[in-house]
Amino acid sequence: MNRRDYLRSTLGGFAFIGTAGLGSALSAPSSPSAGKTAALSGSAGMASFAGNHNHPAEYELPQLAYSYDALEPHIDAQTMELHHSIHHQSYVNGLNNALAKLAEAREKNDFALVKHWSKEVGFHGAGHFLHAVFWDVMSPDGGGEPEDADLVRAINASFGSFEKFKAHYIAASSAVEASGWGILAWEPFHDRLLVFQAEKHQNLSPMVTVPLLPIDVWEHAYYLRYQNRRGDYVRAFMNVVDWDAVARRFHEARRMLG
Ligand SMILES: [Fe+2]
Repeated sequence: MNRRDYLRSTLGGFAFIGTAGLGSALSAPSSPSAGKTAALSGSAGMASFAGNHNHPAEYELPQLAYSYDALEPHIDAQTMELHHSIHHQSYVNGLNNALAKLAEAREKNDFALVKHWSKEVGFHGAGHFLHAVFWDVMSPDGGGEPEDADLVRAINASFGSFEKFKAHYIAASSAVEASGWGILAWEPFHDRLLVFQAEKHQNLSPMVTVPLLPIDVWEHAYYLRYQNRRGDYVRAFMNVVDWDAVARRFHEARRMLG
């Protein structure tokens, strides 16, 4: 696996949840075929630099590796279906539209709206990539604690213990102002783990970190079942975390970027 293959298969083609720095330098649009067929066990539906500068290949909604009702009772089937097929699809559409508008701007050499469309790339791009990782780190067989020795060591070194990490992650995710994400990420320069918040999808986030375990705390992710009890949803999410998938991301990120 080369560096680009790694990024598209494990990071959603985006090393960070934003629009600048290493993330944008390493991101890659998907080819139509790859996005359509990729399941999410290890893939975010990304592919290599297909298309060209005027007609870039479009991103596509990745398929789930499990059914919409597979995460019951922790996350209900209706929420999963709406979340994946409607909300995630809208980010994919928004990203493709923004990229098409920017391609048009280059073609016409008219950048009057570049600020607007760049923000759209940030919002919809981060939304698409984070959701792709989000689906990938959940499993009907999830929950418990990580078993991977390196991940356990990193969690202990960065947070003190798994219990301290869990308390920190739940608190940070529950306290995101308005809509956004709680994120466990790997920071490559000092080889450490961070927990942070991302308002909306892209604000207040450390650049150049690799998301390992993002949790969506937009209301659409939990309101049908949990209403205003976001904390209950966050705690329930811990029961479906696929720690093997998190460990895989951790190892691949360190191998390729460390
Ligand atoms: Fe979402």
